[in-house]
Amino acid sequence: MSELIRLSKDNDVAIITIDNPPVNALSPGVPQGIEKFIADIQQDPSVKAVVLIGGGKTFIAGADINMFVQMTSGKGGRINLLPILLKIEDCTKPVVVAIHGNALGGGLEVAQACHYRVASPDAKVGQPEVNLGIIPGAGGTQRLPRLAGVAKAIELCTTGKPIKASEAVELGIIDKLIEGDLLAGAVVFARQVAGKPTRKTRERSDRLGTPEQNAPIFAAAREAARKKYRGMMCQLAAIDSIEAGTKLGFEKGCEEEARIFDTCLYSDQSKALIHAFFAEREAAKIPDIPKDTPVIPVNSVAIVGAGTMGSAIAMVFANAGIPVVLKDADQAALDRGMTTIEKNYATSVKRGRFTPEYVNERMKLIKTTLNYGEFAGADMVIEAVFETMPLKKEVFAELDRVCKRGAILATNTSTLNIDEIAASTSRPEAVIGTHFFSPANVMRLLELVRGRKSSKEVIATCMQLAKKIGKIAVLAGNCRGFVGNRMFLPYIREAQFLVEEGAAPEAVDSALTEWGMAMGPLAVGDLGGLDVAYRVRKEYRHLEKPGARQPYVEDRLVEMGRLGQKTGSGWYKYDAERRATPDPEVAELVRKWNAEKNIPQRKISAEEIVDREVYMLINEGARILEEGYALRGGDIDTIYLNGYGFPGYRGGPMWYADTVGLKKVYDRVCEFHRQHGMLWEPAPLLKELAEAGKKFADYQREAGRAAD
Ligand code: 3HC
Ligand code: NAI
Repeated sequence: MSELIRLSKDNDVAIITIDNPPVNALSPGVPQGIEKFIADIQQDPSVKAVVLIGGGKTFIAGADINMFVQMTSGKGGRINLLPILLKIEDCTKPVVVAIHGNALGGGLEVAQACHYRVASPDAKVGQPEVNLGIIPGAGGTQRLPRLAGVAKAIELCTTGKPIKASEAVELGIIDKLIEGDLLAGAVVFARQVAGKPTRKTRERSDRLGTPEQNAPIFAAAREAARKKYRGMMCQLAAIDSIEAGTKLGFEKGCEEEARIFDTCLYSDQSKALIHAFFAEREAAKIPDIPKDTPVIPVNSVAIVGAGTMGSAIAMVFANAGIPVVLKDADQAALDRGMTTIEKNYATSVKRGRFTPEYVNERMKLIKTTLNYGEFAGADMVIEAVFETMPLKKEVFAELDRVCKRGAILATNTSTLNIDEIAASTSRPEAVIGTHFFSPANVMRLLELVRGRKSSKEVIATCMQLAKKIGKIAVLAGNCRGFVGNRMFLPYIREAQFLVEEGAAPEAVDSALTEWGMAMGPLAVGDLGGLDVAYRVRKEYRHLEKPGARQPYVEDRLVEMGRLGQKTGSGWYKYDAERRATPDPEVAELVRKWNAEKNIPQRKISAEEIVDREVYMLINEGARILEEGYALRGGDIDTIYLNGYGFPGYRGGPMWYADTVGLKKVYDRVCEFHRQHGMLWEPAPLLKELAEAGKKFADYQREAGRAAD
């Protein structure tokens, strides 16, 4: 206990410092340490007031999430913070909490139980528990409304988004901002309040409102949560818990909070989201690339191709304060790229995300050019030209000539072979795939693709850089479509087969969105352009298994000029605002074509649609895992959760398969194999794990191997 918590004194002010790196989580010993020192201070007549502060980079970032995993797997006891917080609040000497970095979850709950809260101007506070599928469980749903009012408490507890210290002051969560030395300022503050009667948050009710005032707030919040967090239970649970406190009082409210917290914690949704939290962090760890691998400083970036991707990637770097040079083949294309950037920034300003001053500063970081002269000094180049191998090779040969030695040469290709691109340079070790997702300035996923010769320094640098530019990086091996698109192609193919067998396009999409996907597969095709997958299908048709069933409907739609949203029609028809409606013309055409091809038609249930789509993803994911193109099931999950709209509360395709049970998944895949033929051949790893009664999660632990 003593190493985690330290007690020191500045004359009559006691200072409790939490020292549990990296984020001062409330691991066993931390709350107990605070409790013990508070009890000691209570007995010490020389102490008039207390400051509670975090050591290192942050105040408390919350409960120790590892303990939740132990609890739900029956390996650890429960964390009971609530009585400890009551003891802090009951201390007769003022306890001033001093916040820097983050006060999140249980961290903010500790702060709420203290009598005063001061913070550094750059601190953030929040109740992010919903991101883990739970609600605040140490009085947060009870004390926060008493400090900030019911509406704001609902907002913080349901969005999970942290707020800046300045906003927390306006809301009454923080009493004072301290410029300069936080500890020194907190000690001065503590002396000012020493001797005054302590204020207990739990005894306040001035901001709680009356049942009549609160009823419409709760009703509106529930309606909004049902829409915004479709399928999730914890946001509604947080609202229930806040409401209970306003109606039953603090003590009974806490009892209700504890009951609701447990229901959420032991749910499959929370287990899935906690898996997603750790999987995202695990993805940053590459077994053969140690943490101390040297990295290349990246202080300037050059981008070739100012189209959809190149221009959005330029914004990503500018937003991180890294200067960018954007090159295209002709001035018109460059102008189009810059107009896209300006439009995107204007939208962000309109939505209040950025200020005009911020945007001006970012725009100054983006320069344009028509020649490679400015590439010589760039630390990293990202190529985002058209998706054809001869062009990519030509560009890389040129980059090899103009770029300095040591520069990283990255390609944004979504399907092409990284090794073949690298072979057009004299330095394949400098080449890597940086597969951004569209819109690149919004989507958080970055699939890094390791070529056979990509150096460890280049991979380590891109992993680290991803964090700096706000992306979640996952390392994939160099196979066709890498991880994400290799799984997605059979998924959209299966959606077409379902239509060919009698399901309406909107029935396929709605079965999947009802299940939790952000969009249905056919609507996704319309969004990106059906011609994109069409070209990929044509280019790779020769690699398909001989005799395998081929989908045909989408190809015909493309050949009719129905390319999706951009042409006003694809699987759906679109109005001027790009709102989709089912198109009777498509239904009629499909009926006619299927009759001509003698494809038997039948009614297909939503359950079958979901099984065929999701199990197709899982089966391909199992192959990728076995072949080593993904390091762990969790990496595949991280890709699908952050790049493909897979519902967080289902944990990603591989985690979901584990929760269903691999035996059940395997049996269903075998059934589809019998019914639909070779494209459903079960992946050997799925068979092996199912027969051994194991999970994909076991496989990542036992046999994770590096992709080559
Ligand atoms: N418990 C256990 N480990 C944690 C943790 C936590 N609450 N928060 C972070 N960590 C670990 C990470 O797993 C990671 O470990 P690793 O180095 O072995 O991979 C390490 O700390 C650093 O984390 P990040 O890589 O995420 O560091 P960043 O600097 O990018 O971000 C952060 C820091 C903003 C604090 C981010 O880690 C975060 O959001 N953490 C979770 C915060 C949270 O959800 N708190 C609520 C917990 S639930 C709760 O408090 C319930 C209560 O109501 C009872
Ligand atoms: P795009 O067609 O919008 O833009 C390509 C740009 O490259 C055009 O502005 C073109 O003028 C320019 N260009 C062509 N040859 C050039 C040359 N020799 N020198 C300089 N500029 C040249 O294409 P998009 O969609 O931006 O795609 C770029 C790359 O990103 C492709 O490899 C694509 O597969 C990949 N990608 C695309 C995604 C998407 O959703 N659009 C998603 C992920 C990856």
